[in-house]
Amino acid sequence: MSGASKKLFIKTYGCQMNVYDSERMASALAPQGYETVDSPDAADLVLLNTCHIREKAAEKVYSELGRLRVLKAEKPDLRIGVAGCVAQAEGVEIAARAPVVDLVVGPQAYHRLPDMLDRVSGGERPVETDFPSEDKFDHLPREKRRRGPSAFLTVQEGCDKFCAFCVVPYTRGAEFSRPSERIEAEARDLVDAGVAEITLLGQNVNAYRDETGTSLGALIGRLARIEGLERIRYTTSHPNDMEDDLIEAHGQEAKLMPYLHLPVQAGSDRILKAMNRKHTAAEYIDLLGRIRAARPDIALSGDFIVGFPGETDADFEDTLRLVETVGYAQAYSFAYSPRPGTPAADRDDVPQQVKTERLHRLQALLSAQQTAFNQNLVGRSLPVLLEKRGRMPGQLAGKSPYLNAVHLQADEALMGRVVTAKIVEVTANSLAGVIAA
Ligand code: SAH
Ligand code: SF4
Ligand code: F3S
Repeated sequence: MSGASKKLFIKTYGCQMNVYDSERMASALAPQGYETVDSPDAADLVLLNTCHIREKAAEKVYSELGRLRVLKAEKPDLRIGVAGCVAQAEGVEIAARAPVVDLVVGPQAYHRLPDMLDRVSGGERPVETDFPSEDKFDHLPREKRRRGPSAFLTVQEGCDKFCAFCVVPYTRGAEFSRPSERIEAEARDLVDAGVAEITLLGQNVNAYRDETGTSLGALIGRLARIEGLERIRYTTSHPNDMEDDLIEAHGQEAKLMPYLHLPVQAGSDRILKAMNRKHTAAEYIDLLGRIRAARPDIALSGDFIVGFPGETDADFEDTLRLVETVGYAQAYSFAYSPRPGTPAADRDDVPQQVKTERLHRLQALLSAQQTAFNQNLVGRSLPVLLEKRGRMPGQLAGKSPYLNAVHLQADEALMGRVVTAKIVEVTANSLAGVIAA
């Protein structure tokens, strides 16, 4: 064993795809002698895996770089890299604005990291933000280490939808689906490493279709046959890519969990059109009806933007009405944030105060729906996948099929297993259960 191991700290912002990418970057750097640590203070290399989705997310990067500048003044050998969607969108600008940064690497170029670090040692400050034609995951080594019970697996990247508010098509490039055999092999390796639940990831995961024509529904069917894999989830989906075979899979595939994150963004057809979402509110509600017919207990989740340019009070009321009609188990909502380079960026015309008021009203409604959904689970027995230790001694925490966090008293030996738990209490963000006899 080499004693001269180097320390790597990765700070991850943004969506689950960044979480997955950070794991893959850590694996890619392991052969170079890097082991991960959980603070920048002990690190030889710090990577910020960034998010550009809203203004605040992007600002965090520059304030973190300010803190790292202080650290680097004490430790001149410290290497600092910026990865992720801010790197992709503002690569050259970051290099110019923050001299403390040694390298900038966009999300499609992570397999080039080892080479880029060599170039840094040679005195360069490389910036790699092109979209190479090769699949980065083919060139990123995977570590065969023991894993926790649930894992992410990216199956699709990029987005061709060009919603008028969104940076993702620019930061992640065109839609691309990984070959299904590779995904299957990776899923088997994960299960061998102790994983019981896999969440398939993609910016538009249900647009998945590989070169052999495999759809997401078919891919889920194949993964469901892997022995030892207990649960399958996928996120994030676009309503227009919700194909019949995927809807059917919700009715037929016991391992596919009854939870669907299906963002709609707004309830007004006028705003949906201005957002370039390419569907109406009625079409979305009709689609949910078909999904609920296949899987009546499915928990629905969504994303909403309030204060999109041109949104009137009446448009916003349409959003509230849609939420009332649907009844969400949980959801995310955001005030519109103009993003450089997107079509809506220069039309930001709803005053901040109005955005904030609308956001509070929407969040109050969504949170009441979430509480109602959770209350309904009290007294029921649910399968819970135990994933980690809870806060209290003797307590373990896991997830219900509906993605609720569930806390219960259980023996550590049950970690990684699915137990049946009776739900006894609902707290703000989680459920309390007892193992059913
Ligand atoms: N691919 C996914 C998620 C994209 S980003 C999808 O199609 O739904 C996650 C969420 O961030 C979006 O669903 C949207 O609600 C929100 N979002 C994206 N751009 C935004 C912006 N400019 N301002 C506010 N919220 C935004
Ligand atoms: Fe962004 Fe729309 Fe693509 Fe989702 S579908 S990533 S919101 S452009
Ligand atoms: Fe953010 Fe990029 Fe994900 S902008 S939400 S990290 S795809």
